[in-house]
Amino acid sequence: MILADTPTFAYRPKEIRNGLSIPPRMTLRNIMQMMFRWNWCFSQLTAGGMPEFQTMKPYIPKGLSMKHLGLFMNKTFSGRLTEAKIAPIRDRWKGNIVIKGVVNPEDAEVAIKHGLDGMIVSNHGGRQLDRGESTIEPLKRLVPEFKGKIKIMMDSGIRNGADVTAALACGADFTWMGRTPMFGVAALGRYGGHHTFEMLKKQIQQNMEQIGCENVTDLPKHLVIPFD
Ligand SMILES: Cc1cc2nc3c(=O)[nH]c(=O)nc-3n(C[C@H](O)[C@H](O)[C@H](O)COP(=O)(O)O)c2cc1C
Repeated sequence: MILADTPTFAYRPKEIRNGLSIPPRMTLRNIMQMMFRWNWCFSQLTAGGMPEFQTMKPYIPKGLSMKHLGLFMNKTFSGRLTEAKIAPIRDRWKGNIVIKGVVNPEDAEVAIKHGLDGMIVSNHGGRQLDRGESTIEPLKRLVPEFKGKIKIMMDSGIRNGADVTAALACGADFTWMGRTPMFGVAALGRYGGHHTFEMLKKQIQQNMEQIGCENVTDLPKHLVIPFD
């Protein structure tokens, strides 16, 4: 997956206010919160250990401290994504390539021109550009022109089954989620992810029952555009 939605780290006041940093900082507030969460502390000490970036682990140079990891991550953000950067990746990688962060037809054209297999209409969960559109809007514009030419997927702000149903009804082939399963994990620990997906499945099924749709691929036939 090639990222087009994070050319640089955005200014995120909420994260600054919450003290989010790499490496994580131990503050009085953290310590106070931990004091009231014995179960979590115990599981960290016995099973979990220090929090780590599991998904990044294979790519991080060995022996890097958390502080240097922050600098390493900064370096991996190499600025603007251009066609010249996409072409050699396409040449060398024979598997599927998806570009994430497409919101306009010009970029969709580029994705098709370079033989990419899919695009994700994404605004990075609305955490990059304050004036970015809700992704359902570009999705509705891109589907009529590009459906069938490239797989069209969507993320950002999908919080329940109705959101998934709406995106599929607007023509998305697939939707992704960032924070929604994380909220489940935050609330219920190791069972949270499974619980979240069970809820989503039930909500999608109930939505489909309400509108009399038997197959997810038929959802676009049931799309009703509301008044603006
Ligand atoms: C904690 C966190 C870390 C993320 N890290 C990455 C990342 O490394 N690469 C990436 O493409 N997107 C990353 N994202 C963005 C997600 O891939 C996704 O676009 C976004 O979360 C979708 O919005 P949603 O959280 O409202 O579902 C991250 C999101 C969160 C919440």
